[in-house]
Parts: sequence; C-alpha cells; structure tokens
Amino acid sequence: MAREVKKAVDTALVDKIVAKHRTREGALLPVLREVQDSLGYLPQEALERVALGLGLSLSRVYGVATFYSLFYTRPKGRYMVRVCESAPCHVQGAQEVIDALIRELGVSFGETTPDGRFTLEKVSCLGVCGVAPAVMIEDRVYGNLTPESVVAVIQEYR
Ligand code: FES
Repeated sequence: MAREVKKAVDTALVDKIVAKHRTREGALLPVLREVQDSLGYLPQEALERVALGLGLSLSRVYGVATFYSLFYTRPKGRYMVRVCESAPCHVQGAQEVIDALIRELGVSFGETTPDGRFTLEKVSCLGVCGVAPAVMIEDRVYGNLTPESVVAVIQEYR
C-alpha cells in the first residue's frame, strides 16, 4: 500500500526569510508571503519556525495564515479552480456548475485532488457577471457554463 511521504521543510530557508524581515514593523505578513512563495504553501513546521523567529505565539501566526485567502496551509494543486458563487452567478445556475465540479474532481472546497492536479476554491465575483456562471482556472476565465461544459473545461487540464 502506498504511503504518504512528507517532505521535510527547509527550516534554514524559513529562518533566513524571518531574519530578513524581523526588524520590520508588521513583519508577519511579508514573512508568510515569502515563505509561501518559496515552499508553495505554509506547512505547520514553517509556521512554527516563523512564530519562534518573530517571537509570536503559534496561534497568532496560524490565525493570520488561515484568515487571509491568499495563504494556503495545505499543498495547492497544479491548477487552482476558482468558482464564483456570488448572487449573479448563483441565479444563473452556479450551484449546478459547482455540483458538477465537485462530482468531477471528487473534492470539496479547499481540497486538492489526490493526484495533486486541482485545488477547488470558492470566490466572490470574478468580475465577469455578464457571462455568469463563471469559473477561473489559473488566470483563464470561463463563462456561460453549464454542468456539462464545466466538465469539458476540466478535461482540457487533465
Ligand atoms: S457574480 Fe460571478 S462573476 Fe460576478
């Protein structure tokens, strides 16, 4: 049976980033951003190093890392699938599109497919309400979606 192998966090790298920002007022956000840019997400071990390095409690660091939607405490997939569920998309059938996506990917919001290919996320307005319901994959926006067409879009990324 396959076993998950956790990659060790490069704590020296995290310490270096902390040292670079330590003297700045409000260092936590830039530190978290840079650590995430380097590691791809914010693993628990990295958050512990950041807390230690900045002299903050782990709960404070964890609270900030989980509050902002730009931070990820779990590994992200190769493709971010962002689904709009604001009112204009909702009234145009976003829920059916969302249901189709969840069925097709086999994950819920905030989760990544086991093959590491897709992470599903819900967002508010993507700014393309005229073509609701809409989904964004990486930097490409798809509109006027139906449950069938959103599955076809996902197939393009498989
Ligand atoms: S409400 Fe969905 S794109 Fe604006």
